[in-house]
Amino acid sequence: MIIWNAEQQTFHLCNQHISYVLGIEHQRYLVHCYWGKRVATFNQYHDYPKLDRSSFSPTPATWPDRTFSLDTVLQEFPGHGAGDYREPAFEVRYADGTQVSNLHYLSHRIEQGKPRLEGLPNTWVETSDEAQTLTITLADPITHLQVELSYTVFRDHPVIARSTRFINQGEQPLRLLRALSCAVDFPDSNYQQIQFPGAWARERQLHRQPLNPGITVLDSKRGASSTHQQPFIGLVRPETTEMHGEAWALHLVYSGNFTARTEVDAYQQTRLLLGINPHGFGWQLQPNESFQTPEAVMAWSENGLNGLSQALHRLYRDNLVRGQHRHQPRPILANNWESTYFDFNEEKLLTFARNAKQLGVELLMLDDGWFGERNDDTSSLGDWFVNQKKFPQGLRPLIDKVHQQEMKFGLWFEPEMISRRSDLFAQHPDWVIRAGEQLLSEGRNQYILDLGHAEVRDNILSQMSIFLEKHPIDYIKWDMNRNMTEVGSSAMPPEQQQETAHRYMLGLYALLDALTTRFPHILFECCAGGGGRFDPGMLYYMPQAWVSDNTDAASRVYIQHATSLLYPPIMQCAHVSEVPNHQMGRSTSIGMRGAVAMSGNYGLMLNLMHQDAERDRAVTEQIAFYKQHRQLLQFGTFWRLASPWQHPDFAAWMFVSPDQHEALVMAFSLVSSASAPLRQLKLAGLDIQARYLIDESPTEIGGDELMYRGIYIDPPLNRDYVSRIWHLRCRQ
Ligand code: DGJ
Repeated sequence: MIIWNAEQQTFHLCNQHISYVLGIEHQRYLVHCYWGKRVATFNQYHDYPKLDRSSFSPTPATWPDRTFSLDTVLQEFPGHGAGDYREPAFEVRYADGTQVSNLHYLSHRIEQGKPRLEGLPNTWVETSDEAQTLTITLADPITHLQVELSYTVFRDHPVIARSTRFINQGEQPLRLLRALSCAVDFPDSNYQQIQFPGAWARERQLHRQPLNPGITVLDSKRGASSTHQQPFIGLVRPETTEMHGEAWALHLVYSGNFTARTEVDAYQQTRLLLGINPHGFGWQLQPNESFQTPEAVMAWSENGLNGLSQALHRLYRDNLVRGQHRHQPRPILANNWESTYFDFNEEKLLTFARNAKQLGVELLMLDDGWFGERNDDTSSLGDWFVNQKKFPQGLRPLIDKVHQQEMKFGLWFEPEMISRRSDLFAQHPDWVIRAGEQLLSEGRNQYILDLGHAEVRDNILSQMSIFLEKHPIDYIKWDMNRNMTEVGSSAMPPEQQQETAHRYMLGLYALLDALTTRFPHILFECCAGGGGRFDPGMLYYMPQAWVSDNTDAASRVYIQHATSLLYPPIMQCAHVSEVPNHQMGRSTSIGMRGAVAMSGNYGLMLNLMHQDAERDRAVTEQIAFYKQHRQLLQFGTFWRLASPWQHPDFAAWMFVSPDQHEALVMAFSLVSSASAPLRQLKLAGLDIQARYLIDESPTEIGGDELMYRGIYIDPPLNRDYVSRIWHLRCRQ
């Protein structure tokens, strides 16, 4: 998978899908040659046109050839201060105050498999023949900075995983000002960029725009990957569609501050950069110390956005998520949040559980408010013991009674936070993230624990471990409801204050690692006030995430459609909720709410404190249907067919079983119109040789016909917020 050609001085990373080629120019400079569809051999090395542009694009001091400049050539890991004026992948301040780095190729090694990144989430392989890893060492002979670039090519995925390690080989400390995970230079700029801007309850809105000259920055400075952006850069050709055309993705396996930059330079070449946000970041490296960046996943497809999504879905399902739940069907849960908010006790929850059980629910999920003295959001985060007023006998009797009804039991935690009104804050007011004496900004009446500090982390680990050892909990919803302000740590000296946000992430990852290792049977759901930290970093520890606090099915069609560009349905938690919807005030049909929830991990956020014959009949049927098709919905191949971002009145998608013998197609009417044109839906992912039966119809139709000609939506979906599901199967 990795071919080193010593004569050409090129590295060719390839598998059956892709090639990624880089080379060493003038025995020193690491240059980028190609990333795209596999080529059998690569022979156009050192062919970057030799033009004299030396007036304003200087030639390097170590190779004063007027036709070569770091300012124009395509590079692999560009630095700052030695002739390249474009955006650098790294910046260092040395002990003498200078900031110029000049990296030269030093050595490389190729190994089987993929080494894990210490303390950071990363993609992984089960056996060493599934991947090969190339590590290239670059060194600055003057400053003694060393940089190790790591590239893993997977045997079975059109994906390369990259990360970078900085090592101080000098005798003086140095300071990393910018330490990105990867850079890729493309030879042209004829691309459109895909991004996912958003906000609370409006996460991941799909946006596609042409690349502009100059620098475009997408980022988070919030201390979390955030509801506002994804740690991601997507590029497509203007003609790329869902089904056809080239698409590239860079996705950061990290949950904190990030930057995702594109720069179109003076010669219309495009540089992509992804990594930890340099804003507010600094890292002190003592002699012989090193800094490891997070990993960036680089995926490519020639089969449009669906092809790109499917590559990421497979990688994340098989090579990112860990633990016993990875390939296990996920349970149908009922969450009490929108039924009771903070107002519950054992008796109420038993009514809720009984009603849920009658519908076919498999797990009762008790949300916020069961601990400390929490009756609203003003107190008790950090006090992880049972609320005695709500549960005078403790939680155990409730858990046991739920288990007796053959349902599992899930519980809400927000372990990273602390309320001002809590025992923990009274004892340790200095355990919060804070900048010296600066007053603390409020966010939902809570502050953020300084998890970079081992003592703080250990306290939370121990509180949770004691609790979980005494209570047989099957599922945890791990929430996080505010972003960082006044960033600083009382545990760190002045010169290391800018390490706080990243140390926090490392601390959080260590805490998650300890808990998931200690309690491997618990299924974790990642939540951050909805989808405020829906990123590959968190999914390494928790295999599914709450997509959004917006449970309105119409809003969810947009959000889940866009989310599916990156993440498979099995990672997306989606619940059927009441109408009018609590966030949007909108009423959608129960059928549409069900279909949208089934397009992720189906659950209920209905008010199950009371029964409603019509609703409950529909939900019972839905649950039975979901159980029957759960394997297909959770593990099938997902295809987007019609985008609500293109046609705001309509959306459609489908799920195809791995053997292509079965499929479920779903269509959603958002806003209907009178005398609307008829609609045909072309299906995807079917076997062209196979013949399918649709629902109860006796007529067999070929996979080719269903994909090339399509099916009519008949009768038309002529109401707002209704949906239809078709089941396709091959005759046995
Ligand atoms: C935000 C979550 O997204 C909600 O589902 C709920 O768990 C609340 N927090 C509880 O405070």
